[in-house]
Amino acid sequence: MSATKRILMQGAAVVAMGVSAGTWAGAPERPTFTKDVLPILQENCQTCHRPSGLNMSGMIAPMSLMTYEEVRPWAKSISGIVDTRKMPPWHAGEKFYGKFRNERVLTQDEIQTVRAWVQQGAPRGNPSDAPAPMKFSETGWNFGKPDLVVDFPKPFLLQDEVEDLYHNITVQLTKDQHGEDRWVKAVEFKSGSEVVHHIIGYAHPKGDKSNLSGNEGDVTSGMIGGNAPGTDVAAYPEGYGVRLPAEARVTFAMHYHKEAGPGTAVQDNSQMGFQFQDGPVTHPVEISTIQHGAFEIPPFANDWKVGASRTFKEDTLLLSMLPHMHLRGKSGKYTAFYPDGTSEVLLDVPAYDFNWQSSYELPAPKTLPAGTRVEMELVFDNSKENGERIGFDSSKAIRFGGPTTDEMDLAWITIAPKAPVAPKAGDATGNAADE
Ligand code: HEC
Repeated sequence: MSATKRILMQGAAVVAMGVSAGTWAGAPERPTFTKDVLPILQENCQTCHRPSGLNMSGMIAPMSLMTYEEVRPWAKSISGIVDTRKMPPWHAGEKFYGKFRNERVLTQDEIQTVRAWVQQGAPRGNPSDAPAPMKFSETGWNFGKPDLVVDFPKPFLLQDEVEDLYHNITVQLTKDQHGEDRWVKAVEFKSGSEVVHHIIGYAHPKGDKSNLSGNEGDVTSGMIGGNAPGTDVAAYPEGYGVRLPAEARVTFAMHYHKEAGPGTAVQDNSQMGFQFQDGPVTHPVEISTIQHGAFEIPPFANDWKVGASRTFKEDTLLLSMLPHMHLRGKSGKYTAFYPDGTSEVLLDVPAYDFNWQSSYELPAPKTLPAGTRVEMELVFDNSKENGERIGFDSSKAIRFGGPTTDEMDLAWITIAPKAPVAPKAGDATGNAADE
């Protein structure tokens, strides 16, 4: 949502108090598709709802909403789904509307426009009112053109009997491919088949002996990004980046999920695409977590809280947060306790949805002064009702583990040191720096 829209939204909320029910500050009384509805769909829906929309690791929008012909049959569903705020998908609490750079939220006026349009028979309107069509990347990558693409060494075969599989695939980058340290500006993961549930990427310097186990939760060092259902492309502002060391060993930590049985074998060849910062990077980004890890959720517990905290010794910049739980995830909250005694809720996700692993990106890096403690609280619902609704066994105690039937308590944070770090020789730009 744009800044202007945000201001309009706040304005609308104020005005709405002073007017009779049913009148809306900025919503047109007789909306048409071309004039009023299409711009809303362009800005808020079409990135996903188009012929080859965002494949957010399996969360592929079921239909295209580009033209009147495509939208008209869905008019009623669209009105219903935007009314309940199920679409566009966004799970931060209402108090946080307007607080994140990548948020997907409609204003009350936009919701009212769609509602009125459907109530009045979803008219097309004048074709010449339609805005120019949206332009999307045509490179096959949502972020545009990658500077470096990393492929599997060879396609990976998932045999018939495989159902749920964690598997690491490691690629040694050559000098030709990636001969010097660069700073990652954006990284995109492209699933090579429909059985990819998620991918986490790691990079370790050449010769680094740290061995990756098959369990993603065991290793969080060297993380360069990941995609899971509903995750956007990770991108960093100028001056920020994650280091991709020269001739790095890059690991795809794959989680596959498919039906098992004769004839279900699939070949997968997923890819990572990188864009690098051209300018110097003074704030090396670290992708890290706050987690407890040793929790145990009792059988049938419907409101089981897991908490952990981390105190920052140096002034630290916070770029984004991503609460990660599995099927029993119910809600998540991050709170900062500042050294001056004040506190602030940084993120509240009151109704967590495992299908949408959204990263909540701050519009600008936020300072956590030295001594700040950030607490995370993740809540799990292991009740019988929830188990029946989602499809899990609630009669067992649940601990940390990779499979979606186990749980995770990862409060991901993307952070960087506040004090600028002088770029070292060979870092960044691609122009050999003076030693
Ligand atoms: C980030 C990607 C994304 C955005 C943005 C998005 N959608 Fe969706 N939409 C999906 C996915 C994926 C599904 C299917 C999964 C689900 O239902 O959760 C879906 C499902 C739907 C459905 C239900 C379809 C059915 O089969 O019943 C409707 C209606 C819908 N979206 C409308 C919209 C509208 C209207 C907007 C914009 C205001 C929007 N969506 C924005 C990804 C998106």
